[in-house]
Amino acid sequence: MTVELTPMRWWHVSWAAELDRQCFGATAWTPAGFVSELARPSRRYRVALLAGEPVGYAGLAVWTDDTGGSPPEADLQTLAVDPPQRGHGIGTLLLEDAIAACRDAAVGAIHLEVRTEAPARRLYEVHGFRPVRQRRNYYAPGEHAVVMVLPLSAHVATS
Ligand SMILES: CC(C)(COP(=O)(O)OP(=O)(O)OC[C@H]1O[C@@H](n2cnc3c(N)ncnc32)[C@H](O)[C@@H]1OP(=O)(O)O)[C@@H](O)C(=O)NCCC(=O)NCCS
Repeated sequence: MTVELTPMRWWHVSWAAELDRQCFGATAWTPAGFVSELARPSRRYRVALLAGEPVGYAGLAVWTDDTGGSPPEADLQTLAVDPPQRGHGIGTLLLEDAIAACRDAAVGAIHLEVRTEAPARRLYEVHGFRPVRQRRNYYAPGEHAVVMVLPLSAHVATS
């Protein structure tokens, strides 16, 4: 199975919004939400293509500190794979690509929020993310989020 990653473009948006709806229901992003994300220079969205067809996406936001006092920080905004294509390593590929991009950008830490019960938690833990706090009722009443952080070595002083 050959999967290639490509920047998300406007022609992926309706597909991405439909997958988001399947994955996240009421909290999903609309097509307009995706378009607005893609227009922001701080964003980095990638689509996984299998035989040329989109099967997953990951979205990253990278925040620079304009005072220059701190390394950039990143939020993993979203990650999803088409249900029939799950379990074949596509989510891992997208996540590892996002982590590599953060290392290249000398990001100090990657943050994300995930539903407390989501299977995706395991994927993040395997890649070194650690839970740092819970946000109760974050998604909806009774649907809590856990905030996870992956510190990257780039923020360690090298001198
Ligand atoms: C999370 C998600 C992107 C993973 O995509 P994927 O292509 O299936 O991921 P992979 O095949 O690379 O699997 C990676 C690991 O994730 C974990 N994992 C992924 N889906 C899982 C599931 N349904 N149940 C249990 N573990 C799961 C496993 O640890 C797996 O590692 P393993 O195969 O060595 O056991 C996909 O399940 C998804 O789209 N979920 C719905 C959206 C979502 O919750 N996104 C995260 C929002 S923060």
